[in-house]
Amino acid sequence: MARALTDADGMRLGELEGIVGEEGGYTAEADAARLLDGLDVPESLYERKMGELQGGQKVRVLLAQALFGSPPALLLDEPTNHLDLDSVHWLQNYLCEYEGVLIVISHDRHFLNSVCTHTADIDYETVIMYNGGYDDMVLAKTSIRSRIESENAQREKKIAQLNEFIARFSAGTRSAQATSRKKEVERLQTTDLARSNIARPFIRFQMEQASGRHPLEIKSVVKAYDGVKVFQPFSASVVRGEKIALMGRNGTGKTTLLKSLVRNATGYIDDAEKQFAIDGGTVAWGHNTLAGYFAQDHSESIVKGTTAIEWLHQFKPQATQEELRGLLGQMLFSGEDALKPTRALSGGESARLIFCRLMLQKPNILVLDEPTNHLDLESINALNIALQKYDGTVLLVTHDHDVIDEVATRIWHFQGGRIEDFKGPYEEYLVYAQEKAS
Ligand SMILES: Nc1ncnc2c1ncn2[C@@H]1O[C@H](COP(=O)(O)OP(=O)(O)O)[C@@H](O)[C@H]1O
Ligand SMILES: [Mg+2]
Repeated sequence: MARALTDADGMRLGELEGIVGEEGGYTAEADAARLLDGLDVPESLYERKMGELQGGQKVRVLLAQALFGSPPALLLDEPTNHLDLDSVHWLQNYLCEYEGVLIVISHDRHFLNSVCTHTADIDYETVIMYNGGYDDMVLAKTSIRSRIESENAQREKKIAQLNEFIARFSAGTRSAQATSRKKEVERLQTTDLARSNIARPFIRFQMEQASGRHPLEIKSVVKAYDGVKVFQPFSASVVRGEKIALMGRNGTGKTTLLKSLVRNATGYIDDAEKQFAIDGGTVAWGHNTLAGYFAQDHSESIVKGTTAIEWLHQFKPQATQEELRGLLGQMLFSGEDALKPTRALSGGESARLIFCRLMLQKPNILVLDEPTNHLDLESINALNIALQKYDGTVLLVTHDHDVIDEVATRIWHFQGGRIEDFKGPYEEYLVYAQEKAS
């Protein structure tokens, strides 16, 4: 039964309204929409249940939930992992302006450099805090380590001298002095230097032989799923040595294009890939091309029921155990890890094993679909350097800003059902895109 509002009710309502306002209640929906939009969660998903969302979408919603209401502190564990580059940039700007305390774990060097004011390095069995982002940390750490190492060298020399003295005089008239020197040696030896536990893989892509000058000619390629075209007919001519970054938000068709290309490549293509059908156009691979493919869903490339080294061996039966072990070691599979059953490999281990395969096969075209996703920062750096040094042709999907910036010579940007072909590096592309937008 309704009753009239009393004065007290009115006062209380006013009070509550104040609280709702103060807590951002009236802008809550708009704020939530701004966060979701920045993280590329479309409006059509707003009313969906969490259980109905795909993995990547769920992560973004959870991230939006953490950011919502500007909490005084944020703890984010690898927040960029499932984000495309536009979303990473958005998050980066958001966190740069964020006034609270942030503690973040990330393998994205560019992200760390732009967001962090301090870097805690967990190494040498301790945690050391440095000022600045990742690159500042590396610089400071290197100079401190080299100082400690030269001090250590001095110490070793001193110990050697003392030991020599002890050996010569411990039995004679100067044995008291020798004893005191023994104590000094003991003292010097107790401060042993802890070892770094940061492991750096070593990646080097070589080619068995070079391809012709025009390895790939794409004419009006079209692919549709259930009658819906993923992108407009796409044509491009690729010149040997070009390193092309395929960029664009999730679901814009990057994987679809790569699959449309590798299906009839000469090289190391699995049967499933050969069966991928396109709906129009032609893909012509040039003279002497040999492609190596790193699929986005790479767990399927590695069959279960064998070991890492056996799996690798089948791709080059004439390879010696030494060669295989060497490659596995380079990718941080130590002696016993080489015998790991393939079913037990983690995402990062599978990725590293596929790099072994690419190094073993020596293709002259690398087609890599999100190879950085499962890698840690050191491995991403190693891949970055290897791709820069590689003499062959590269088609690469990644959301890592630095890798795109430092490797790519050409950009294929996927947006709104179209693929834009920009013949220049990322830095120039950004300027061009900004001019186009304004
Ligand atoms: N096997 C499939 N069947 C139906 N739709 C698919 C299939 N694979 C991809 N798609 C759809 O095609 C579009 C492009 O996907 P994809 O090429 O994987 O994008 P990206 O690699 O850029 O994230 C998406 O809308 C996706 O849902
Ligand atoms: Mg993809």
